[in-house]
Amino acid sequence: MYVFTSKFDLQKYLATLSNKKILGFVPTMGVLHEGHLELIKQSKRQCNTTICSIFINPTQFNNAEDLASYPNSLQSDLEKLEQVRCDIVYTPTVADIYQKSTKPKVFGFGPLATSMEGKFRPGHFNGMATVVEKFFNIIKPTMAFFGEKDLQQLQLVKALVKQMKSSIKVVGIPTVREKNGLAKSSRNELLSQSAKEESALIYNCLYYCKKNKKKGLNELKAYIQDKFKKQKTLKLEYAEFVSLSTMQPIKKWEGENKNAICIAAYHSGVRLIDNIIL
Ligand code: PAJ
Repeated sequence: MYVFTSKFDLQKYLATLSNKKILGFVPTMGVLHEGHLELIKQSKRQCNTTICSIFINPTQFNNAEDLASYPNSLQSDLEKLEQVRCDIVYTPTVADIYQKSTKPKVFGFGPLATSMEGKFRPGHFNGMATVVEKFFNIIKPTMAFFGEKDLQQLQLVKALVKQMKSSIKVVGIPTVREKNGLAKSSRNELLSQSAKEESALIYNCLYYCKKNKKKGLNELKAYIQDKFKKQKTLKLEYAEFVSLSTMQPIKKWEGENKNAICIAAYHSGVRLIDNIIL
C-alpha cells in the first residue's frame, strides 16, 4: 500500500499507472469503520486500483468545536486499509489541499443544498463540495464511492460531477449498521455504550416508516416526534420525508425508491444523521 502526503508525489505515482486503469476513489475523514471499509471493498470489486483519502476538511465544519473534537486515528486507519488491501492512501496536509486560502468555493446547487443538512449546517455543503472537487481534479478517478448514510451529500456529489462536466461515475453504497441498527459513524466513538443503545431509536423510527408507508406522511411524522419526546436523552433536530431528486420535503409519496426519511438528532452533544430510502 502506497501512502502519499503530497499531491505532487501522488500525481507522479498515478501517472505511472497504465492508461487502461480503472481508478476507484473513496474520500474519508478517517477514524475508519466498517462503513468506510465497505466502500473500499466495493471499489476493489469494480476497479483495478483503489485510492482512499483521509483528510479532516476544515471548510465543511460550520462549528469550531465540532472540528476540534472530531476524532482522528491515522495509524489504526492505515492498518485497516492495509487489511482490506487498499492500493493507495492520500493523507494530505491542509496546506497541500488549500495552499494559502481555506475559503470554500460558493456553489449553486439550488434546492438540493437548502434543506436538512444545508439548513442546519450553513456552509457545510460548500466546504464539502470544495474539497471533493479538489480531490476529483487531483486524482481524476474513474469512479467515486460514497455512502447512502450521507444521502444529501451523495446527491450533491452527483450534481457536482454534472456541473464539472466530468465523466466520474458516482456510486452510492447502502448504509452499514451496528447490530442494533445504529448507522456506523466515526462520531459513534464519542458515545457511551448506553448512549449507543438509546440512539438506536433513530433507526427504529426509520424502519417503522419503511414498514408503515401506508399510514401516510403526517401520521408517520407524528409517530417519530412522539417517540423522541419520550426518549429524553435524544434531541430531534429534524425528521423530513424528502424527494430523492430534489432533497426537498414532499407532500405525498412519489413512488417506490423515490423518497427517503431523513433524521438528524443529538445525543449528549453528538450529532447523528441517518436515513432510509422508501
Ligand atoms: P466521512 O464522514 O468520513 O465519510 C466518508 C464516506 O463514508 C462517505 O461517503 C460516507 O457517506 C461514508 N459512510 C459513513 N458512514 C457509513 C456507513 N455507516 N455505511 C456506509 N457508508 C458510510 O463524508 C465525509 O467523510 C466527508 O464529507 C468527505 C466526503 C470525505 C469530504 O470531506
